[in-house]
Amino acid sequence: MKQKELAIKSLGPCRIKSPLKTRAESIKLFHFVEDSEQVIFDVVRTNHKENGKRDKLLTMEMAGPREKIFFDPSKTTVAIVTCGGLCPGINDVVRSLVMAFWYRYGVRKILGVQYGYQGFIPEHAHPFIELTPKIVSDIHQFGGTILGSSRGEQDVEAIVDCLERHGINILYTIGGDGTLHGANEIHREIEKRGLKIGIAGIPKTIDNDINHIEKSFGFETSFTIASPIIRDAHMEARGAYNGVAIVKLMGRDSGFIAANAALSMPEVNLVLVPEIEFDLHGKRGLLEVVRQRLGAKHHCVIVVAEGAGQRHFEGKRDSKDASGNVLHHDIGIFLKKEISNYLNEVGMDSSVKYIDPSYIIRSAPANPSDSIFCNKLGLHGAHAGMAGKTNFVVGRRNNKFVHLPVELVIAKRKKIDVRSDLWLNVLETTGQPVSMKNETEGDLYRKSMKDVKE
Ligand code: F6P
Repeated sequence: MKQKELAIKSLGPCRIKSPLKTRAESIKLFHFVEDSEQVIFDVVRTNHKENGKRDKLLTMEMAGPREKIFFDPSKTTVAIVTCGGLCPGINDVVRSLVMAFWYRYGVRKILGVQYGYQGFIPEHAHPFIELTPKIVSDIHQFGGTILGSSRGEQDVEAIVDCLERHGINILYTIGGDGTLHGANEIHREIEKRGLKIGIAGIPKTIDNDINHIEKSFGFETSFTIASPIIRDAHMEARGAYNGVAIVKLMGRDSGFIAANAALSMPEVNLVLVPEIEFDLHGKRGLLEVVRQRLGAKHHCVIVVAEGAGQRHFEGKRDSKDASGNVLHHDIGIFLKKEISNYLNEVGMDSSVKYIDPSYIIRSAPANPSDSIFCNKLGLHGAHAGMAGKTNFVVGRRNNKFVHLPVELVIAKRKKIDVRSDLWLNVLETTGQPVSMKNETEGDLYRKSMKDVKE
């Protein structure tokens, strides 16, 4: 990566004294961040040298209030849109943005766009909601989004027409990969028209698959909700001789929820994630691993991410959701059937239970840790937006809040690196085989690691 790929675009020079500066003058406690204050991108350095030279240290722009801002608060209109699937903490972010704009900056026009990008399109006729502290004061206590959401692309020119018509100066898009792709397109159209409208992204996904940021909000709440479900699944498995409990958790293409939920409840014996293939049959295949586990301990808990094992459905028709994501086949039901049949065939009396908490793990309100995180994301988002930053996301990396370019975080989705501490922890905690593939273990494992890395 090059340093310039981490550069944040700006709408222009900041010439207006921030209202925060006026408040801070009396107390001198406030730390205003300069754009030159940077956070190191990779905290761990190896001695790797390319062409005899050490790699250059890459740095990111630090988030925080700026002393001078780009927009005049008394004449600023802000809009907030929430898109994609639900995620704990959306309302916390909306609340935090509204409170920061209203009380910290004195902005009085904050529009809530209803039902995702549809809310900009006249044909859908979803009116804007005027957001005030009174309207948002207790919304963080509820899951979901008070603005409503939707999936799918909308006409970008029509969206920018709408921004112009309503004199919107900064648009906050709260959403995952698809939403941020949309934000990037909106930004391009804005640039094409030579407009001074800021586009800000607050990454939202329980899957935690946004690249380069430590975690997305809502992820922690989701695996925390999954944790007691696994605890109880373990009881179901233990309650029967040769009991198997399979818990399927969300995670379309990345297995972070499954891996973290399993680590939080270390009774889990097998974790299956989209990043790592497994065979069903054969000496090293999953079915034989389950049989051996039952032979030794007479119960087995399996946590499977919804996107795992999809190659076992090859030949079956794929369909897509409105965002263009491939809808996965139900790996949980499939495993229940395959495991029950196999144990029957080998003459092992067993009881296989399948638990699918489905949407329950994402529609709840944020837990306290996510609430704090969401609050900070909203505050930092407001500071950056007022300072005229554009086409950026706010995220945390190396324990610091930073701005990252939208283009950089959408270039690729984050996946579990099988060489990471996280996956090593899963292997060590569960004791599951490093590979459940039949071909020569080393070769295949190395190959699958390479695929995941590339
Ligand atoms: O992207 C988050 C997520 O919850 C995924 O884990 C899941 O596959 C998907 O959304 C389901 O979303 P929906 O059914 O709302 O389209």
